[in-house]
Amino acid sequence: MTHDSTRRQLFAIGRSRPWNAPEREVLSESAYLGRRELVRRLGLASAGLVSGALVGCPGPGQAQPAPRARSPYPARRNATYRVSRALTPETVAGTYNNFYEFSTNKEDVAPLSRSFTTRPWQVEVAGLVARPGTFDLDDLERTMPLEERVYRFRCVEAWSMTVPWTGFPLSALLERVEPRSEARYVRFVTASRPAEMPGLRNADWYPWPYHEGLRLDEARNELTLLATGIYGHALPPQHGAPVRLVVPWKYGFKSIKSIVRIELTAEEPPTFWHTLQPREYGFLANVDPEVPHPRWSQATERTIDTGARLPTRRYNGYERYVAGLYRG
Ligand code: MTE
Repeated sequence: MTHDSTRRQLFAIGRSRPWNAPEREVLSESAYLGRRELVRRLGLASAGLVSGALVGCPGPGQAQPAPRARSPYPARRNATYRVSRALTPETVAGTYNNFYEFSTNKEDVAPLSRSFTTRPWQVEVAGLVARPGTFDLDDLERTMPLEERVYRFRCVEAWSMTVPWTGFPLSALLERVEPRSEARYVRFVTASRPAEMPGLRNADWYPWPYHEGLRLDEARNELTLLATGIYGHALPPQHGAPVRLVVPWKYGFKSIKSIVRIELTAEEPPTFWHTLQPREYGFLANVDPEVPHPRWSQATERTIDTGARLPTRRYNGYERYVAGLYRG
């Protein structure tokens, strides 16, 4: 089977998924909620009615199972961030990934990352902040304002997709740590686990761990998301579980995956791709159809599901949110 026909098949499968309905909200409640959640809401769990059978109450001394935390997924969709393009089927987006810690081959990332350990997970926030701290991912998912946003996503390699991320604005986390007045930049670092990430062992010439950076005003922009989910559930490893950055007006390499450290700095931090190829990858990396990559044009982009070629938009179509950041 050719690569293209596999794509078409995946696309056809993806079409039938509720994620491709224009508004997920039209789904029936039972289809939308998990069974456990439905049982909880109907109040049947407390009556002991589970799986249609009466379950006996535990006798004295018998341990009660700990109550399971309610899943934060799917989160409420924020309709402000809408896109006039069709969603990319999950099966396509989840099998065409750039995550060099696992493989430089996009199709190999999902299988190679399947057993990546994503719990427990902590993110350290440090540097020029008044209240540095280490945040547990479960606590962040519970306490941060999680919402779903559909964004366009444009890779520097001239392909694009449209996906529903779940996450919270990075600015909400920055508020908690209170950046000091000298802070101008934010540096991000990916986990480095050679035992679990074959790319770290096989390609030791890369400047691991993967690291990226934003200006502080970019980091505080309302579009800048720390994503913990995609397509209505927690991120799978290939998309950067359990927490990654999404900066939709910049080329995809800025959207660093599996973050373990965030550091506020006074100086522009070095970044992975700029260190490797300074002539090809800049720090800002804003999507711009008029600035070609030294080896290819950026005027158009290929959608990964249909293969259609579309004109690339300045700031990936997010000009009204971000153009002010770059005036002057
Ligand atoms: N983050 C890490 N840690 N390692 C990577 O190789 N690749 C980047 C970005 N984040 C990368 C990364 C690139 S080039 C792109 S296009 C996006 O992740 C791809 O995200 P996706 O696989 O979820 O589509």
